[in-house]
Amino acid sequence: MEEFAKLIIDGQEFILPVIEGSEGERAIDIRNLRPQTGYITFDPGYGNTGACRSAITYMDGEKGILRYRGVPIEQLAKSSTFVETAFLLITGKLPTRDELTRTSVYLNDFSTLHENMKAFYQNYPSKAHPMGILSAMVNAMRSFYPELLDIEEEMNKTYLRIISKIRTMAAMAHKISIGQRVIYPRPDLCYCANFLNMMFDSVVVPYRLDDELVRALNVFWILHADHEQNCSTTAVRVVGSGKVNIYSTISAGISALWGPLHGGANQAVIQMLERIERDGLSVETCIARAKDPKDDFRLMGFGHRVYKTYDPRATIMKEMCDIVLKKVKQKDPLLDIAQKLEEAALNDSYFKEKNLYPNVDFYSGIVLRAMGIPTNMFTVMFAIGRLPGWIAQWKEDVSDPEMKICRPRQVYTGNRLKEYIPIDQRKADDPFC
Ligand code: CMC
Repeated sequence: MEEFAKLIIDGQEFILPVIEGSEGERAIDIRNLRPQTGYITFDPGYGNTGACRSAITYMDGEKGILRYRGVPIEQLAKSSTFVETAFLLITGKLPTRDELTRTSVYLNDFSTLHENMKAFYQNYPSKAHPMGILSAMVNAMRSFYPELLDIEEEMNKTYLRIISKIRTMAAMAHKISIGQRVIYPRPDLCYCANFLNMMFDSVVVPYRLDDELVRALNVFWILHADHEQNCSTTAVRVVGSGKVNIYSTISAGISALWGPLHGGANQAVIQMLERIERDGLSVETCIARAKDPKDDFRLMGFGHRVYKTYDPRATIMKEMCDIVLKKVKQKDPLLDIAQKLEEAALNDSYFKEKNLYPNVDFYSGIVLRAMGIPTNMFTVMFAIGRLPGWIAQWKEDVSDPEMKICRPRQVYTGNRLKEYIPIDQRKADDPFC
């Protein structure tokens, strides 16, 4: 039976259609609200707003469920590879062996950078954040590799070109920032192994690839590959809705991800843990500060707009900490601090009442540190992982006949009509002048 919502304004009834998703999520369709009633809705941060229909990722924040194209994240993390998961997200299906091989061949073919692009790196200040460099470089790709929007095969190559080159760009940014010679991608290595090799191989100390670390990187990127309508994905959809090219759209996603409330949280968590260790802060002090509304200190890596229980990605990431630390034969003191903080927060009434649990970023920095990834590259690692999701969401958006240019409304709270006052008639005691 078709469902409707009834809205009563000043005694007048308006009927609004209800739409339902494949997992039962229901939405009141307000597309005709303003033409019918003159009213708009008010939802800062869009917490109650469904901005699109999407068949890519399903999340249930109450139950801690995350699925890509219907497949549970736990199964993908256990058995898939990052490249296969990227294929699943972008095309909507699991690849055949032939399709996967073809994808890998393209990823190899596209892995080097145009020689002229390398010149950009040399002119960045040595302390430039790699996220800023990455966002600029991806935007610059448009000039070097214009995409052919109307030819599907060419667009498929464009997706793989970005996925392949972003990894080379990221590793190159790292090598240049530490003053080492750039290591080129190797055609005999898979996606993740190639990245680790480009990051850590050097003429002085050759890098020895380890299957378990390569697997860990696959899992790390699978966990980040999509997360439905989060801040950066929304940026991608909003920017893309103006029909700008895909490179600029992805570049906008990278910029949005950089923020510490979003992807930048993985760097912020490690910096927080390091500060706690360095200053000898107690867990109790940190919890008290995080709860104090007058203090802007937050427990980074805790809380989520959608998850009101343990983030399923954090569960897997926590297990990975042990695997990776064991592999590299290290003991990370920050892991002890993180575990103590988690235990204290999960038993604290403030965190319980507000449903604040560890999110993916709480333990991811410890995994990355153990792999040897420098802290300022953490959010870049998130960006590489999120790329298939951004591409899938952009692709879905531009091919959806329901989608329009994103253009929200506002509730204006500024001045009513004011007369312009010529400069020599303005009075010092007039607050408007
Ligand atoms: N530490 C202390 N208090 C918190 C925290 C935290 N990490 N997160 C939320 N709260 C409190 C917040 O102060 C607010 O309290 P009150 O109701 O008294 O005003 C309440 O919980 C609700 O928080 P909110 O900021 O209104 O919730 P939100 O949905 O707008 O924000 C969030 C979600 C992720 C931005 C927020 O939880 C946060 O800032 N967490 C820390 C940063 C972080 O870890 N970000 C990574 C998110 S997961 C990776 C990704 O996909 O982006």
